[in-house]
Amino acid sequence: MSDTQLIKDKLDIVELIGEYVSLKPAGINHKGLCPFHHEKSPSFMVNRERQSWHCFGCGKGGDVFSFVQEIEGMDFVESLNYLANRSGVQLTDTKINQAESSQKTRIKDINAAAARFYHNFLMQMDLARPAREYLQQRGIKDAIIEDWQIGYVPDQWDLLTKYLLKKNFAIDDLIAAGLTIKKDNADATGQRGYYDRFRGRIMFPLWDIHDSVVGFTGRVLVETEHSGGKYVNTPQTLVYDKSRVIFGLNKAKKEIKAKNLVVMVEGQMDVIACHQAGMKNVVATSGTALTDMQIELLKRYATNLAIAFDADQAGQAAAKRVIDLAREAGCAVRVIRIPDGAGKDPDECLQKNPEVWQHAVANAQDVMEWLLEKSFFGRDLHNPRDRQTMVNELLTEVVRIPFAVERDHWLRIIANRLGEETSVLRENLQEIKRLEKIPKKPSLSSSEKPVTPNQANARSATGDRFEQLMERLLILVLRYPATARFLFSSPSAVVEAAFLDNSRLSSLYGFLKNQYTQNQETISIDALRHAQFRDSQSENIVEVLLLKGELDFFGLGEKEAQDEFRVLHETILSGLRKKMIQEIQGEMKLAEEAGDTVRLEELLSSFKKLSN
Ligand code: UTP
Ligand code: MN
Repeated sequence: MSDTQLIKDKLDIVELIGEYVSLKPAGINHKGLCPFHHEKSPSFMVNRERQSWHCFGCGKGGDVFSFVQEIEGMDFVESLNYLANRSGVQLTDTKINQAESSQKTRIKDINAAAARFYHNFLMQMDLARPAREYLQQRGIKDAIIEDWQIGYVPDQWDLLTKYLLKKNFAIDDLIAAGLTIKKDNADATGQRGYYDRFRGRIMFPLWDIHDSVVGFTGRVLVETEHSGGKYVNTPQTLVYDKSRVIFGLNKAKKEIKAKNLVVMVEGQMDVIACHQAGMKNVVATSGTALTDMQIELLKRYATNLAIAFDADQAGQAAAKRVIDLAREAGCAVRVIRIPDGAGKDPDECLQKNPEVWQHAVANAQDVMEWLLEKSFFGRDLHNPRDRQTMVNELLTEVVRIPFAVERDHWLRIIANRLGEETSVLRENLQEIKRLEKIPKKPSLSSSEKPVTPNQANARSATGDRFEQLMERLLILVLRYPATARFLFSSPSAVVEAAFLDNSRLSSLYGFLKNQYTQNQETISIDALRHAQFRDSQSENIVEVLLLKGELDFFGLGEKEAQDEFRVLHETILSGLRKKMIQEIQGEMKLAEEAGDTVRLEELLSSFKKLSN
């Protein structure tokens, strides 16, 4: 048996995915909210027996390997090593053992070696004395320096590069790791061709959640004209994707889960200061705008978020972005306010008075309260235009509250503070709700009603509306083989042509039809499964369609399935006809303009055939 199959058999896919997604049994499947896109109702399915998963919202799917690749950003070899380790399977495939030394692995080794180098340099070298004094003066204890592997690199041209080359790492890998930069015009003038990206900086390793060093952030020790930015980060590399990494999460995740609360601050010094003060559920995005992927990562551990951002404009704008993204993702958000004069950031506040910071976190403001304050700021309550702007601004936020009672609570507070009638605001709220409900995607024309609500909501990966409907038709055939006769006993030429034209579904359609005609009008699902139809993402289409059927047609009886089939078939047929008629009309116009009577004749006869 292959290594991969061995691993799949040892691991329970429901248990593994359950660590990331809260799953509930649904028929023969488990279902939950997809971790790869935002959704309000679950369309993410896991099937234990088939060892597979699939999301009908975003179309992603596969096995345990593709799941960890997707969610952890691993490549195949990494996922294999990771899952082999978890399942206790000894890898035997030599091809894979060779791939062990992939560039990604080499970069991780380089990062680990660099982290050790920086840290040892800080702790042991005379040249690092100013750095040690600086950290001491900022109140960072040795235990924390050790724990966070804080380091230092002096302001020299290529100290680290030389060291790592001596350790037999290859220059190309050092460059790929983002630690070494190749000079643009390295030439024969005796200048050295390579230099270190980080020079004269306090170095903080950046870890992924599995404690691998994926990159660094370096804070300048002495700011000079030439020192560059205050913080410099590793650029995007094979192992460092800044939109996926959250500073401190590897050390904070346990506490975050235990408290069901993430405290998010702006800077890495803030994170470290908080951890040192014993508050360990603290992380930072370190200098980048929060991304969807980071929110999803955090949501694995907690759904409550408290954020502390600088009071300056940049900080407030960043805070609003985090708030919007987190609320959209279904997190409850609070805003931590450091009182005036108590420090500009958590680190300063902790230096001045740790209790003030603890209190600020414990009493973080409800996000609506924060928005209210922000909205009132600088506005004139006697100016009707200002008042309307505030109403619009605030009600847009109220609409986003998922609970009716809470919505009403804030509506009344806003009315109260504005001195407005609640009934007026309620009307306004309805209007905003109505506007928000208007779908942004192009909708179906009125005659083409969606077949079921599920169908209307599904944002299929395949996109095309006809393809979605045709896919549903095949799902019905797979799930209720008795419906096959409606499709194959006297097939409609138009529908058949559409199936055969469809690159994704044509071979499955052909196979089904063949079986039906040669097999005394029966269809064997087992034979189909083994036929292994694959789509462009090399997923087994039959498995995907069966899973999808489980989601859409769970509990549907034979009789209802047949009704569903007829409606669906009719919708497809008339839709296709209409489309073809439109196309022919277009062509007729062209033929007419060109005076091509022969072609016109031809088109007219097809037109007549289709219209009756
Ligand atoms: P701050 O300038 O507020 O720094 O930037 P800080 O965290 O308070 O640092 P200290 O206390 O002066 O040492 C906040 C965060 O923004 C990112 C860093 O992640 C920093 O922690 N940043 C800042 C950069 O990425 N680049 C910069 O040049 C400056
Ligand atoms: Mn600071």
